[in-house]
Amino acid sequence: MNAKILEIENLTVSFDGFKALNNLNFSLETGELRVIIGPNGAGKTTFLDIITGKTKPTEGQVRFKGRNLRNYSEHEIARMGVGRKFQTPRVYLNLTPRENLELACNRYKTVFASLLKRTPSAEKRTVSGLLETIGLSHKADMKANLLSHGEKQWLEIGMLVAQSPDLLLVDEPVAGLTDEETELTGELLTSLAESHSIIVIEHDMEFVRQIARGQVTVLHQGSVLCEGTFDQVQSDPRVIEVYLGQEIHHDQPVSLEDAPQLLEIVEGADPETPGTLQGDFAEA
Ligand SMILES: Nc1ncnc2c1ncn2[C@@H]1O[C@H](COP(=O)(O)OP(=O)(O)OP(=O)(O)O)[C@@H](O)[C@H]1O
Ligand SMILES: [Mg+2]
Repeated sequence: MNAKILEIENLTVSFDGFKALNNLNFSLETGELRVIIGPNGAGKTTFLDIITGKTKPTEGQVRFKGRNLRNYSEHEIARMGVGRKFQTPRVYLNLTPRENLELACNRYKTVFASLLKRTPSAEKRTVSGLLETIGLSHKADMKANLLSHGEKQWLEIGMLVAQSPDLLLVDEPVAGLTDEETELTGELLTSLAESHSIIVIEHDMEFVRQIARGQVTVLHQGSVLCEGTFDQVQSDPRVIEVYLGQEIHHDQPVSLEDAPQLLEIVEGADPETPGTLQGDFAEA
């Protein structure tokens, strides 16, 4: 078995000459949970678009489980085991969580046929297991439009997991969530990481601190700026510079010693007040 589930070499993506990704190299071990951070426009979403096949590389290659993805369609790549969670939950609001998950378990059948058919008991167990995993057993049979934003996010994560992907791509899962929902989302992703390889893109640094066990990758201008543990990257002067360089008008260059305080400033900033440091980390 290939130890690396994902290997990306010299990847460049140009949009009319503008390089959204620029000679990027990246790899992910099987079973790893990797968090990717980076300022707005760094190329994070484009990076996920490349892995799912939505966008094709201008140069370079992406290998998933050892297979070069260049010649596969988005649909084929999904069937190979790449699952993507978009930022806005995509669930059927007029169905219940249980029905949504049943549909996800039957993704090759039509919506109508799945609803009419009685659910086989093996699948029922899967659905109830999924409901438990995402913490929605007690709301399994109410319409999904009554769920909170966070609960809808968890439902969509459950629907993704129902399709048994090997690699889960999760784009900004906690934007707009309450603190409690954010923490529960972290626990959910951490538990899913026991049986999946996961890439999480996130702006919320407190959340990154919660879930990042191993490596964190920082993207900047379409390339990997640095990789390391959360503590290493948060105190890396280059990271501080790209996140905070324009906002903090130091007379002196930002030093390593400033790093923890600077992060505290960001985390403590008022998201409601325009022009505060929070801007760089808040949802675009
Ligand atoms: N289809 C496209 N055509 C032209 N430019 C694009 C296209 N998609 C993305 N870009 C540009 O590529 C750069 C990277 O965009 P991307 O959405 O990947 O950044 P991001 O890191 O996800 O940013 P954010 O944190 O704001 O979500 C941006 O400058 C963006 O304007
Ligand atoms: Mg994005």
